Amino acid sequence: MVDPNGDPLASAQLEKAVEAIRAGKLVAFPTETVYGLGADATNADAVASIFAAKGRPAFNPLIIHVASMEKAVQLVEFNDHAKLLAETNWPGPLTIVLPRKDDCPVALLAGAGLETLAIRVPENSYARKFLSRVDVPIAAPSANKSGSVSPTTADHVRESLGDVVDLILDDGPCQIGLESTIIDLTDDVPVLLRSGGVTIEMLERQIGSIQAAVDDNSAPKAPGMLSRHYATSIPLRMNATELEEGEALLAFGGRTLGPAPAVCNLSRAGDLNEAAANLFDMMRKLDRPDLKGIAVMEIPKTGLGRAINDRLRRASR
Ligand code: TXA
Ligand code: MG
Repeated sequence: MVDPNGDPLASAQLEKAVEAIRAGKLVAFPTETVYGLGADATNADAVASIFAAKGRPAFNPLIIHVASMEKAVQLVEFNDHAKLLAETNWPGPLTIVLPRKDDCPVALLAGAGLETLAIRVPENSYARKFLSRVDVPIAAPSANKSGSVSPTTADHVRESLGDVVDLILDDGPCQIGLESTIIDLTDDVPVLLRSGGVTIEMLERQIGSIQAAVDDNSAPKAPGMLSRHYATSIPLRMNATELEEGEALLAFGGRTLGPAPAVCNLSRAGDLNEAAANLFDMMRKLDRPDLKGIAVMEIPKTGLGRAINDRLRRASR
């Protein structure tokens, strides 16, 4: 294993990684489970680049990685179950889903607009060094293109994402090689969202019975539980070409549809990365009871535009 303290090459790489994260770039890093594709979770543009790099046609909420419990409590509301599981299993392959704090600095896009965040403290020593040095929460999915298997070596990352990742921290093969276990502790009844590095039996010994949302193959038993998403409380209309009375306008590009009681522009320059970064903040801003609805102008269905259209479509139902 690489020791970034003793190995000058590893420390130099670590410094480069810290600079890259501060500049809003993507860094692939090792964890004990699989390699992650990381960006500054508080930088919405950087988070949008993760989705662009993965090539996923939808926004999936990302896991937020931090160096310690002290950092985690700044982001989400812990309850007794969560405290117990965190104290016993962190650092380690357990991800806990909890409500965001009101002043949580993590970009809404990182959690795909949800009120909750999935959070974990990885155990790999290189990862921990990286997380404490950057000192910002790191949003990271597994470092592979959408639809392929999670990478357990730096070579896997290079093969899958070599052209889009700015830096790959190499710590050899992952010790566990299987993703983290995800448990949702938002409600009173704990729910297992994904089987992984820590077994459900181990967790049940610590907090009692856990409801299974997935079967042994990690296939969702109750798909509804996994497809929770943010939707506006007023109607949302896509591909609008004109405004109806009382509607707010969510614009894209240099054009407008005329005067509206409230207007936000996802990206005046027509930049899909910028539009993705703004999407959830602007949906929330326009979701006002005094407005009749939200008219959204057409957004191209290429690149990140596919995920933006997917999320708007879900919100428009
Ligand atoms: O081991 C791991 O967990 C690796 C390493 C890099 O940490 N990460 C990983 O991330 O597997 P990813 O994006 O491939 O899987 C994250 C899963 C997704 O299925 C996502 O839906 C779920 O976590 N998730 C994230 N935030 C959530 C939330 N707020 N509520 C429910 N599920 C959430
Ligand atoms: Mg994955």
